[in-house]
Amino acid sequence: MVTSHRSRVVIVGTGSVGAATAGAIVLQGLCDELVLINHNPDKASGLAMDLMDGSDYTGRFVSIRRGDWADCRDADIVIVTAGPKPKPGETRFQELGAAVDIVDPILCAIRDSGFDGILIMVSNPVDVLSWFAWKRTGLPRAQVIGSGTALDTSRMKAIIGDITRLDPRMVSGYVIGEHGDSQFVPWSTVSFVGKSFTRYLQDNRSRYVDITLDGIEERTRRRGLLIKSLRGGTSQGIAATVAGLARTILWDERRVVPVSTLIDGEYEYDEHDVFLSLPVALNADGVGDFVDLHLDESELAKFHRSARIVREHCAMIAD
Ligand code: LAC
Repeated sequence: MVTSHRSRVVIVGTGSVGAATAGAIVLQGLCDELVLINHNPDKASGLAMDLMDGSDYTGRFVSIRRGDWADCRDADIVIVTAGPKPKPGETRFQELGAAVDIVDPILCAIRDSGFDGILIMVSNPVDVLSWFAWKRTGLPRAQVIGSGTALDTSRMKAIIGDITRLDPRMVSGYVIGEHGDSQFVPWSTVSFVGKSFTRYLQDNRSRYVDITLDGIEERTRRRGLLIKSLRGGTSQGIAATVAGLARTILWDERRVVPVSTLIDGEYEYDEHDVFLSLPVALNADGVGDFVDLHLDESELAKFHRSARIVREHCAMIAD
């Protein structure tokens, strides 16, 4: 008999972010099995049925069902999206205590299942909760990531695409640091249509009189809050991003993408015991090589500021 590995993704939390992530994974046919877990099992069953109903039109058949913690054991990826309902005007840190109360038993259950795959934290504040997840589960550092600034990077590219009316995928570069207010763009890493984006703007000054690098960075930083004020929360951008991370891992694409990862003395970043986003090569085993961005002094100061903010919040939940 031929036995082949059936790839399995488990999503914990089937609110708007979990549901949209499930949809993105199923439409792209990224895995053989998708298992949904929610504290209210009916919600998970309902979402499974709803997703199954599109089977005739998806990229490829994906087996979808409601599951439980035992399903994490053989999963390639577990994605945690559970968290308190977002309230208008709140920052990602405001519900930290409530988020930990929700996520803690989930992480213990994942750990106790014997899970040994890649854990993707999406719940906010994602850098703090990724660090917490790494501590709680005892998984090797390469196997715990947070969605981090992968989303903000995509936002920055979308905004540049919108300004230039060119494909956002022509942008190469990263938003790094905290997935929050202290995130920043090291502009020296950003290139566009074969040259630095700074140079591109200079070359086309007359067309982009009102456009500044600071302005793009600020729009990127505020995008989540803006969307929240317009429609109550974000879901589609984060879902596409997380599905993209899952694809990179499941298909061993080795894409270099900024995700929240344990920083432990790499290069000039000079930080330890904190989760922040830096570009890393993602593969089937999780986090591979880091990229040395050669940040300048002012960029390093911004990176340390992110580290300080995240670490202060980690200290509030350390037990
Ligand atoms: C956002 C959420 C995922 O920025 O933090 O959309």
